[in-house]
Amino acid sequence: MIRTITEMGDPVLYQVAREVSPEEIPSPEIQGVIDDLIQTLKSTTGVGLAAPQISQSLRICIVDKPLTVLINPIITPVGEVTDTSFEGCLSVPGVRGEVRRPQTVRVQALDRRGKEIDQTWTLFRAIVVQHEVDHLDGILYVSRTEFTFPDNSARVKSHESVPVRTHMIGGSKKTFVVDSPKPVGGAQHVTFGFDQRGTVTGIRVQPGGARITGVSLSGVRFKRKDYPAGLADQVICGERGLIVAAGDQLRIDMAMPKGKRQISVEADFDPAT
Ligand code: NI
Repeated sequence: MIRTITEMGDPVLYQVAREVSPEEIPSPEIQGVIDDLIQTLKSTTGVGLAAPQISQSLRICIVDKPLTVLINPIITPVGEVTDTSFEGCLSVPGVRGEVRRPQTVRVQALDRRGKEIDQTWTLFRAIVVQHEVDHLDGILYVSRTEFTFPDNSARVKSHESVPVRTHMIGGSKKTFVVDSPKPVGGAQHVTFGFDQRGTVTGIRVQPGGARITGVSLSGVRFKRKDYPAGLADQVICGERGLIVAAGDQLRIDMAMPKGKRQISVEADFDPAT
């Protein structure tokens, strides 16, 4: 069965998943989780998937090309050579970030029949397996990166990707801009993914008549008093601003004026230096 992929902010992605005992492996439950992982991955453009990403806190992950099922995987770096690459994650949609990892790793695990796997993987496959095993330890790659960029990280409620434009205003301040690709109406939200620490100093939504009804950061909703409110379509985030960490997602809920309109949401961001 194709399962819903959990997204950043879901507690299951931050838990250390439990080991699967050899006796459990043949059970319909565990075999079902493996089948679901495979079917779910095939429905995406991803190259790996871990059980917590389908809400199962178990030490099972899969890596594609060729498809390999790993149960209770243990990863050991081989040699000292590290490499950086731009990683993405199905649980952190639309963002990519540069991560440095060992180039070659030893992979020890059990396969879906309980047979031992002991292989040495390198380059792309080594990166993927390290990323997946991180998921089993409750780690998202965004916490390992110094540098990520919003690709098409913002989405409207309909779950369509919308482009993010970034431009610099003033000195080091960046403004993230999200435009909806087509007119939307009713209650909407957009999400900005942050790649680094800093402060959000202001949020604006266009067109006129749209109201900001809520602001939350990685699932934590701010109280109105936490952001001395400006206009209904604009939030001035106080003198200190809203402090965000790398990997945080800022969600802005809006009520749109009557009828469907294209929306544009801007967030001013001051990176920490
Ligand atoms: Ni991932």
